[in-house]
Amino acid sequence: MEKSWLSRRQFIRIGTGALAAGTAVKAALLEPQLLAASPRTAAPSDRVRFASIGTGVRGCELLGASLRVPGIECIAVCDLYDSRHQAAREVLKRDVPTTRNYREILDRQDVDAVIVAVTDHQHRRVVEDACAAGKDVYCEKPMSHTVEDGFRMIDAAHKNKRILQVGSQRVSSILYAKAKEIYDSGKLGDVTAIEAYWDRNTASGAWVYPIPPNANEETIDWNAFIEGGPKRPFDPVRFFRWRCFSDYGEGLAGDLFVHLISGIHFITGTDTVAERAQSSGGLFRWKDGRDFPDLIETMYDYPKFRVLLRCNLNNEGGEFIGFYGTGGTMVIRDSTLTYKPQDTRPMAEDYSIHGWPEELRKEYLRKWQEEHPAAPPLTFKVDQDTGVFTTPPGYNDTADHEANFFDAVRTRKPPVENEVFANYAAIGCHLANYAYFSKTIAIWDPGAKKIRS
Ligand SMILES: NC(=O)c1ccc[n+]([C@@H]2O[C@H](COP(=O)([O-])OP(=O)(O)OC[C@H]3O[C@@H](n4cnc5c(N)ncnc54)[C@H](O)[C@@H]3O)[C@@H](O)[C@H]2O)c1
Repeated sequence: MEKSWLSRRQFIRIGTGALAAGTAVKAALLEPQLLAASPRTAAPSDRVRFASIGTGVRGCELLGASLRVPGIECIAVCDLYDSRHQAAREVLKRDVPTTRNYREILDRQDVDAVIVAVTDHQHRRVVEDACAAGKDVYCEKPMSHTVEDGFRMIDAAHKNKRILQVGSQRVSSILYAKAKEIYDSGKLGDVTAIEAYWDRNTASGAWVYPIPPNANEETIDWNAFIEGGPKRPFDPVRFFRWRCFSDYGEGLAGDLFVHLISGIHFITGTDTVAERAQSSGGLFRWKDGRDFPDLIETMYDYPKFRVLLRCNLNNEGGEFIGFYGTGGTMVIRDSTLTYKPQDTRPMAEDYSIHGWPEELRKEYLRKWQEEHPAAPPLTFKVDQDTGVFTTPPGYNDTADHEANFFDAVRTRKPPVENEVFANYAAIGCHLANYAYFSKTIAIWDPGAKKIRS
């Protein structure tokens, strides 16, 4: 049996966690791998030059994380809202050419790759154009706004032999790598049930973002924003709180389920779509004209296990994924991973025989002892074998995910969250919404590449 994980070199004391409510527990600090393994210096000929298309909240986060990845350089940025150009420059701490028109970036021969962090409804168009222009693409999650979009993006990447990575960064996290190692080791036994949730209780968590005072038709290219969707007059609420509207986003499923599904698929090695999904939920609190519920719960049938997901915007519950197996339980709660084995050694029945007369009970126990000679002294102690792991302070899985992408650009090997993986995860989101809005069971039809009821 593996030496107790708690005797490892680096520990951190964490507060109440999945392991022991109310007590402080020692967690082993995981060591960053990907970035540490990347070459610190790259020959100028090896530098990957990229441009960012979409430098809103996430685009700026990605630019910030890119500064930690060696051997890459951002040489242009693009956004439809002029103030985002300045925001990007501030993150990069230098001047870069800016434009509202992403095609100008795609026309540049010196751009090897693009980071696409535009609103979900624009992913397909920008990714198709970028692939056709010969650029490798890091596209934010969820990959697709519709099922059809996802398959078109796969075709674009394959036809043009492009690297396409999607941005559910947890799949590059050292925490998820540890979870996958434990899952693959078989310690959990047969995992038949997985549950996950991501619950928040703030206006920001419900996407009620403030509208900047200079937002108007002069500073924002509204017509480019609504391209591909229905024509509407300028509406800053739709521009800044686009996740609330089905023209541009997919609500909680596209925003948060996709991270949970990607994590579950990565850890379990799932390379398929759930066979069917059933959803419940409702809009209870954030009744501001949005198209989506503020609570959604979805049950998925996969071939080997069932998955229960929930996102609730009406209670602060954080982020959680639990794997329940015949050999143990593994839980990821925020940045802490806990594995706890279960004692599955044979045991004499100790419950139902209390309804037996004493004589029969004694006889049963005597026979059981005979058939199960005294067990050797305990070599298995649940508490000793429990493992708790956490990421070091300041650990940034987005930087690791970007390092993964840029490594793939150099090596031409498929990245961890490639187009096929990401398309399956995104279809999981579309299944959840289909089931919710149609009030029916959503069935994935792989032959037709469609959802049906
Ligand atoms: N991986 C994560 O953890 C994570 C976190 C947040 C957002 N995201 C994803 O990142 C993407 C962007 O989200 P956000 O929160 O930054 O939104 P945002 O509204 O802050 O920024 C989106 C930006 O895209 C720009 N844009 C839209 N269409 C464009 C086009 N055709 N050309 C150029 N720019 C265009 C808009 O002008 C806007 O500034 C979404 O797909 C979202 O789901 C991922």
